[in-house]
Amino acid sequence: MTTTAVTGPAVRFADVWTLPGVYAPQADTYLLARALRDEGVTAGTEVLDVGTGSGALAVLAARMGARVSATDISRRAVVTARLNAVRAGERVRVRRGDLSTPWPGRTFDVVVSNPPYVPARTVRPPLWGRARAWDGGHDGRHVVDRICSRAPSLLRPRGVLLMVHSGLCGAETTVARLSEAGLTCAVTDRARVPFGPVLTQRRRWLHTRGLIAAGEDEEELVVIRAERI
Ligand SMILES: C[S@@+](CC[C@H](N)C(=O)[O-])C[C@H]1O[C@@H](n2cnc3c(N)ncnc32)[C@H](O)[C@@H]1O
Repeated sequence: MTTTAVTGPAVRFADVWTLPGVYAPQADTYLLARALRDEGVTAGTEVLDVGTGSGALAVLAARMGARVSATDISRRAVVTARLNAVRAGERVRVRRGDLSTPWPGRTFDVVVSNPPYVPARTVRPPLWGRARAWDGGHDGRHVVDRICSRAPSLLRPRGVLLMVHSGLCGAETTVARLSEAGLTCAVTDRARVPFGPVLTQRRRWLHTRGLIAAGEDEEELVVIRAERI
């Protein structure tokens, strides 16, 4: 078990534990945390965290007073998120499964998601292993697109989806898909961050595919906000 003291540029998490293989909070988590904080979650707000990982965002929402449900496809992530909620003294209901399926028929005021979004050599995301936390299929959009399709049925009227992903998999495409699905949608935050180990290792392949320029070593993260009117 690794313990990480997690601080972001604007949002501070409590210490978060991660079991081996579970995604520890990083720049994308911080960016989404800031969006969640700015959303004005209050007591009684019903929040769903899709792909909760360490549970950092779920615990943050619970600290803000929200009633929080969370999901992850990874058993280790589910255990980790439950542990972190207990350590923080917050109630977060975490279930294992694909996207929102562990909470059938439920709707939410706020859905947050930091899904796997890194373009990969494989067409589909892996079924197991650490890379399941970041590999998003060939264009990085496999899980992102599924969330876009599902969002309208998960949101209550005035409900909001907050999703973070890399600019490498196309912010405009996400805005278009969510708008086509009937949501009012915009990019609300952006940050440039240095490539981590996964993108560094894929640099040549990403360049060959025309996704990055030669020598590029930073990516843009985007936060997308989509509201059901
Ligand atoms: C990039 S990590 C984000 C973790 C955490 N939310 C954060 O922001 O630090 C993506 C998470 O989504 C989970 N995941 C991947 N595919 C999923 C799916 N189909 N349904 C639910 N969770 C999934 C992974 O196991 C991983 O924990």
